[in-house]
Amino acid sequence: ETGRIVVVGSLNADLTIYTERLPQPGETLHGEGFTVNPGGKSANQAVAAGLLGGAVSLVGAVGQDSNGDMLLASCSAAGVDVTQVNRVAGVETGVAVVTVDAAGENSIVISAGANGTLRPADVAAAQAAFDGSSVVCLCLEVGLDTVQAAAQAGHDAGATVLLNLSPYAPVAPELASLADVLLVNAHEASQFLGGEEIPAPDAPTSDWEPVLEHFADRGLDRAVVTLGANGSVVLDGLAGSEGRVVRIAPTKVDAIDTTGAGDAFTGALAARLAAGDSLYTSAAFASVSAALAATKKGTQAAYPDETGVNEVLGNKQ
Ligand code: RIB
Ligand code: NA
Repeated sequence: ETGRIVVVGSLNADLTIYTERLPQPGETLHGEGFTVNPGGKSANQAVAAGLLGGAVSLVGAVGQDSNGDMLLASCSAAGVDVTQVNRVAGVETGVAVVTVDAAGENSIVISAGANGTLRPADVAAAQAAFDGSSVVCLCLEVGLDTVQAAAQAGHDAGATVLLNLSPYAPVAPELASLADVLLVNAHEASQFLGGEEIPAPDAPTSDWEPVLEHFADRGLDRAVVTLGANGSVVLDGLAGSEGRVVRIAPTKVDAIDTTGAGDAFTGALAARLAAGDSLYTSAAFASVSAALAATKKGTQAAYPDETGVNEVLGNKQ
């Protein structure tokens, strides 16, 4: 019996073009393979968790346009409950303009559209979804007051509040301390810690102890720091036998499109935590999930199911 997951935040239509390299300021490049696909960090996280067997409710907002239809269809196909996604009149669904280069790296510009209408009142209206939930999953693509309200609702419900500081924005100490698990890349970790240096990918785990302490000073006992192709590090001040600092080796893949790989990680982490796995075991699973997501074009359409992840995990052991 796995616990329920509530994801609160953004849904975007991703308008993607593939290019050899990313453009410089003032430069026009020829690209190819234009696609319009479902995206948005929160919708991606919800779909990633849903495809892995999670029981997921998404709280968000889209417009009454065809992009909104596309997003609701993609979430529903992954088994995500979208009854708490508002269809707002007079505003377009959020859009992301994405460029992906030959190495699978991307640059993204987002226009919030309907995501900008999601308010703390919408979180309150979704209270029934929070009741009895076990994980609440948040990122920073909707207003910080809404994220704060959702973190509080998750905390009050006794859920594990998972906060992904992406796209990075400074957050109030009250919001940070409501997070039970912080999920950040190295750059976001450094920014969050006021410019603190993050250990190099090959640094010994002991170098991460001070980072763990800095997080603890901000009321955060547990964090996962993703390091891209270098794997990730789990910082767990509450860990028992699994250790306070544990490194997760990267899963080597040929990256085609890394867009939304971080969201695949977050959604998978939520799914495994909701199923009762430890933070370390969940992160090891999530790490494989994210790597597999990068081997295919697009975000939600590229996310693996449980069988796909377990196959790779089995081969690693
Ligand atoms: O993290 C990837 C996502 O960021 C894309 O799907 C895009 O919509 C932006 O929100
Ligand atoms: Na991908």
